Amino acid sequence: MKIAMIAAVGRNNELGKNNDLIWHFKEDMRFFKETTTGCAVIMGRKTFESLPKALPGRKNIVLTNNIGYEAPGAQTVATIQAALDAADTETVFIIGGAAIYASFLPLADEIYLTEIDAECADADTFFPRFDKAQYTKSIMQTLCVNNTTLQFARYDKK
Ligand SMILES: NC(=O)c1ccc[n+]([C@@H]2O[C@H](COP(=O)([O-])OP(=O)(O)OC[C@H]3O[C@@H](n4cnc5c(N)ncnc54)[C@H](OP(=O)(O)O)[C@@H]3O)[C@@H](O)[C@H]2O)c1
Repeated sequence: MKIAMIAAVGRNNELGKNNDLIWHFKEDMRFFKETTTGCAVIMGRKTFESLPKALPGRKNIVLTNNIGYEAPGAQTVATIQAALDAADTETVFIIGGAAIYASFLPLADEIYLTEIDAECADADTFFPRFDKAQYTKSIMQTLCVNNTTLQFARYDKK
């Protein structure tokens, strides 16, 4: 099984604030949906709570230490290994947030990053720094939306 991470980040790796997304570009939302649909997705409990509901067309797997936690439309698991065991598709997507990206980073075969050329001064969660020399970067698409550049990049582990 291939382990892929997917995230949208600002210039300083900003991911979120107040348990919500910072970046709301519909082009990025569409890319996320197209890329992950049909695959299992693994997320942290806080990211699950930030969603209106479980993501349709994907097996939702939620990591939490709370054994009694109920996540409608999702399977809850308590360890990284249990999350991977629950994933039953050729590719599993790690969809955040910061705590989950950091835990799975050493295991990831590829990282899809929408790199947004903008900053958010009051962000409170960040994508972990990683050694880009260990990856081959491909730029899949570059868009300019409302004067902001979005670069859709994929980093493949060498
Ligand atoms: N820009 C993007 O692409 C993107 C994507 C996703 C999320 N986000 C943003 O990221 C923020 C949320 O990130 P976050 O780091 O605060 O939270 P998170 O990673 O979504 O969730 C953290 C929670 O996951 C559980 N967890 C983490 N590691 C675990 C492990 N090894 N075993 C068992 N449970 C584990 C714990 O839940 P319990 O406390 O229940 O034990 C922990 O409190 C939000 O602002 C969200 O909007 C941004």
